[in-house]
Amino acid sequence: MTIMYQAKDTRYETLPYRRCGKSGLMLPPISIGLWHNFGDVDVLENGKKMLHTAFDNGITHFDLANNYGPPPGSAETNFGRILKDSFLPYRDELIISTKAGYTMWPGPYGDWGSKKYLVSSLDQSLKRMGLDYVDIFYHHRPDPNTPLEESMAALDLIVRQGKALYVGLSNYSAEDTLKASKILKALGTACLIHQPRYSMFDRSVEDGLLDVLGEEGIGSIVFSPLAQGLLTNKYLKGIPEDSRAAKSTGFLQKDTVTEAVINKVKKLHEIAHNRNQSLAQMAVAWLLKDERVTSVLVGVSRVEQLLDNLDALDNLKFSDSELEQIETVLNS
Ligand SMILES: NC(=O)c1ccc[n+]([C@@H]2O[C@H](COP(=O)([O-])OP(=O)(O)OC[C@H]3O[C@@H](n4cnc5c(N)ncnc54)[C@H](OP(=O)(O)O)[C@@H]3O)[C@@H](O)[C@H]2O)c1
Repeated sequence: MTIMYQAKDTRYETLPYRRCGKSGLMLPPISIGLWHNFGDVDVLENGKKMLHTAFDNGITHFDLANNYGPPPGSAETNFGRILKDSFLPYRDELIISTKAGYTMWPGPYGDWGSKKYLVSSLDQSLKRMGLDYVDIFYHHRPDPNTPLEESMAALDLIVRQGKALYVGLSNYSAEDTLKASKILKALGTACLIHQPRYSMFDRSVEDGLLDVLGEEGIGSIVFSPLAQGLLTNKYLKGIPEDSRAAKSTGFLQKDTVTEAVINKVKKLHEIAHNRNQSLAQMAVAWLLKDERVTSVLVGVSRVEQLLDNLDALDNLKFSDSELEQIETVLNS
């Protein structure tokens, strides 16, 4: 007889939940993403353990997209299996998100940002996950050839149909985010959240996007906070066989792991060590110092990594001197 998963009673005792922009929704400071490690090429039991550990520790938010896998769609299908097995009794305690915007099926209706694509893609995602609705639905990337009004009208429609509670944008520039936010407000469905890439190694959001989010009252959940594993102790001594950079299905390219990058990583590792933190923990804490960052969206390939990342919350404060030392390394 299989024993049903039972979440730990202590799960809400430690995480300081943060308000998502000016909305009513609180999110955990650390959320878990299913881009890698939940496809058909991965071990389902490992994925299940990671999600159990996440929820047991108060991580209420799981982030997906139509194309996560590989193959595309398989992360949602596998998540649906885990959901059925473990999480259905806890559905009202979970924030589940998905997205559409990248290539998903052949022909002119399986990509980008038309109403046709966004609405049918979410219908497919709901089927794969076995859900009636998602909590957040994102337009995954801006579409230069579809009127912004159409993509935003699709998001508004989806909320009115009850297929998503909130909507968000991902990979939109500051300028397009402002335009989209105004359109959504006029339609009566505010943009809840933006999902940009942000880490010590990619700070483009500091050039205007975070300001727009602050002004518009939109929250943010930042992806690849560890630069896909570079901002950890993982690559200090070369490229381990079981790492994302070594895997043929991983998005981190081997040639990104250069000597110059690793030299910076070593120096950052030293600063983290002096703060009694792992580099991964310092990288997470460094992002959470900005109140406009609602949640840091990590990916993990094993339970230990998730627990390591969660311990970032033990030391979120930076002295001026530590921040200066980090700036010096990043600008070197
Ligand atoms: N909206 C978008 O366009 C978009 C794009 C990308 C990602 N995302 C979302 O963001 C989520 C996170 O992205 P990401 O996976 O690139 O994030 P990440 O947290 O920067 O990288 C995750 C990888 O870092 C390594 N890692 C994590 N914690 C570690 C630790 N404590 N010690 C050592 N290594 C550690 C693992 O690599 P190994 O596998 O090598 O162990 C893990 O797979 C995705 O799952 C997805 O939900 C969204």
